[in-house]
Amino acid sequence: MRPPVTDWEIDFDHLDPHWSENLYALWSQLRQTCTVATSQRFEGGAYLPLRYQDIHDIAYDTEHFSSRLMVVRGQKLPVSGMPPVTSDPPEHTPARRLILPPFAPKEIAKLEPRIREIVVSLLDALEGRDVVDASSEFAREIPVLMTTDMLDVDPSDALLFRHWIQALGTDSVSSIEPAMKAGEEVEEYFGRYMRDRRANPGNDLISYLVQAELDGQPLTDLHIIGTLTLIMVAGTETTWSALGSALWHLATHPDDRRRLTAEPELIPTAIEEFLRAYAPVTMAREVVKETTVGGCPYSRGGQVLLSFAAANRDPARFENPDQVIIDRKLNPHAAFGLGRHRCLGSNLARLEMTIAIEEWLKRFPDFELVADKPVVRSEGQLHGVKELWVTLPTFAPRHPGLR
Ligand code: HEM
Repeated sequence: MRPPVTDWEIDFDHLDPHWSENLYALWSQLRQTCTVATSQRFEGGAYLPLRYQDIHDIAYDTEHFSSRLMVVRGQKLPVSGMPPVTSDPPEHTPARRLILPPFAPKEIAKLEPRIREIVVSLLDALEGRDVVDASSEFAREIPVLMTTDMLDVDPSDALLFRHWIQALGTDSVSSIEPAMKAGEEVEEYFGRYMRDRRANPGNDLISYLVQAELDGQPLTDLHIIGTLTLIMVAGTETTWSALGSALWHLATHPDDRRRLTAEPELIPTAIEEFLRAYAPVTMAREVVKETTVGGCPYSRGGQVLLSFAAANRDPARFENPDQVIIDRKLNPHAAFGLGRHRCLGSNLARLEMTIAIEEWLKRFPDFELVADKPVVRSEGQLHGVKELWVTLPTFAPRHPGLR
């Protein structure tokens, strides 16, 4: 049981239930009096910068801030095993360059028919039901099935992926044992596939990595397994969370839902706004050299909660940041990060989200929250909706605005 937070400015705790329930109101309130919240609950002390500019400057400053921390926790756990996200310069550049080609826009565009096929088959499975969990039965399945597809592994392994992602992410904050066990299982799993694809290469991401070279040398087994683990983790819960929030917004804002149903060409712009307003990812950094950002000191050894979601709600950067404006014109949001670690999967995430919302609204233009089922949100560093029970009309007429 965590002691309750008495003062969010000097004792913040992103693992407190109040955090995920009141995130945006909490930041808005904190911004009135402070630019960086701090906490001694975490080894070395923790910082939570709230201004876009400070978050930007930290993300770009790899001299003072290292990516070897992914999670802010009581006891620091530096990791280096998931290149490129856990790599600092100079290792970061080649590790990132290596996996750029399969995520390039033209490669991702080729996946559109397959994504649509997955989305439509998930919607077919919901047809005829009055009440469904739009998050776990729909939003969660799309990215995990796409990941098993891109790796060319058994789609039923999606179940294993979900278990490992939970253990390596959310569960690892309170207890390290499940993460260690999951890490061993993942290593064994991808190790097996790696050996198989070396012998029988195909046209998938595992085969791509086993054939790739860094400085004329094949990648080490650890590098391949680490990057595969990253793709599994980075590609799934993130998109699930973002899509869950988008569906929650549409379930609770009928005007926006009706407008997007009538004007589907607005969906990509609306997706950018959902990503801005409900950015799912908060990363961590470790202060490796004492410094000052935005006039505030950061001590060596401190942990930084780098909240791209907080950056996106800064009124100095966005007009009416707490308002969701689905046709917002200028939207340079930070949901996919800033600086050298900026998301490599953004094209894929955007495509999955766009197709999911397009097809959902074609099939179910009217849906709303089930009154007696609470919306369950993610905790800690991920912001999203894990359970979203909605009512579906038994007869869903196709809207004339949609194909
Ligand atoms: C809505 C969905 C997504 C969001 C919001 C998101 C967000 C982010 C953020 C904020 C970072 C920066 C991390 C940092 O600064 O430390 C990042 C990095 C990364 N993301 Fe995503 N991501 C999403 C989906 C994906 C997908 C679908 C993939 C691929 C399958 C992916 C792969 C990566 C990789 C490989 C990196 C590391 C890049 C580097 O370190 O150079 N992401 N993502």
